[in-house]
Amino acid sequence: MIVQLKKKFTALFNTEPLVFQSPGRVNIIGEHTDYNKGFVLPAAIDKASYVAISKREDEQVILYSSLFNKQVACDLNNIKPMQEGWPNYILGVVNELRKSTPKLTGFNLVLDGDVPMGAGLSSSASVECAVAFGLNHLFELNLSPIEMALVSQKAEHNFAGVMCGIMDQFASVFGKKDHAIQLDCRSMAYDYIPLDLKGYKILLLNTNVEHALASTEYNIRRQQCEQGVEIVRNHQENVESLRDVTMQMLDSYVKEWDDEVYTKCKYVVEENDRLLAAVHALQNGDLVTLGKKMFASHDGLSNMYKVSCPELDYLVEYVRSNSAVAGARMMGGGFGGCTINLVKEESIEELLAIICTDYQKNMGRDLSFYIAETANGSSEVLG
Ligand code: GLA
Repeated sequence: MIVQLKKKFTALFNTEPLVFQSPGRVNIIGEHTDYNKGFVLPAAIDKASYVAISKREDEQVILYSSLFNKQVACDLNNIKPMQEGWPNYILGVVNELRKSTPKLTGFNLVLDGDVPMGAGLSSSASVECAVAFGLNHLFELNLSPIEMALVSQKAEHNFAGVMCGIMDQFASVFGKKDHAIQLDCRSMAYDYIPLDLKGYKILLLNTNVEHALASTEYNIRRQQCEQGVEIVRNHQENVESLRDVTMQMLDSYVKEWDDEVYTKCKYVVEENDRLLAAVHALQNGDLVTLGKKMFASHDGLSNMYKVSCPELDYLVEYVRSNSAVAGARMMGGGFGGCTINLVKEESIEELLAIICTDYQKNMGRDLSFYIAETANGSSEVLG
């Protein structure tokens, strides 16, 4: 891919580029907790976005996507979201950087990658972070890794319209091979947790359901959580996010006020507890408990937080009583994308042979799958 990327770049712009990569991510547990200042447990994976970049003498930004085989151009002084989706993940980052530094001039960029789009593996965050990392290097902006992750998150808010948390961008920048990252989204403190899966592999099953409604529903969930916090704050003024809220507070103040908001908030409070128990289990090599927490997380996301869909539920139910599967759940924002499954390595082939056929028969769609290996975060690609 890198050779092709460089070749394309040289053919288009007649100069040698620098190349940068940033990976997609999985999340073991801790879903819809990041924007509630809770915990997440993502890991960067061996699928990434790649950008080849060089400076220009003028103020033009020329972008080419190998995937879409399309080129767009705009003036650095007039950056705004485009009708076409893919340039926005790049321009969104440029727009944020322009707010804080005058150092940026025009540049050429070719984008390629192998993070499946719309699969809940954070292809958009991986593009944003690769761009942030690349521009930081090219223009010597001196941004720290966390600043690059935050700029990328802002790009998603302002140019893609999704009020996402920090999990995806953080995992893409800070990923570490063979580790998951336990991130506290309130303090931003993090720990690398060795991901020793004891003969199990991370199998991703992609529903191939386009999550069209996802961004609207995502923003609605976020608002509902904020409403819950507001209600509690009327009684306990030191509460700032759902992280500070206990079940007792929800039962006392929110339950009778708004049952829907109550259920959403309850899911989040429970998911934070589940994550802590899951990390403990992982550290003790207790895959059985970890797996149970993953199934429970799915049940909460499906029945309480209501961000699943029939295809995701089908896949999780399919493996629930399979003794080769420790745990499974929907992953990411929801309404489509992948389930994450912990499956005994020697049983993966057998499982895939039946689940692909049955999924097609019952859900009327093809099932795609990936075995995810963990990887390091954003970097320059040398050589
Ligand atoms: C998307 C968002 C993340 C996070 C997850 C749900 O991936 O980008 O910030 O909220 O959904 O856990």
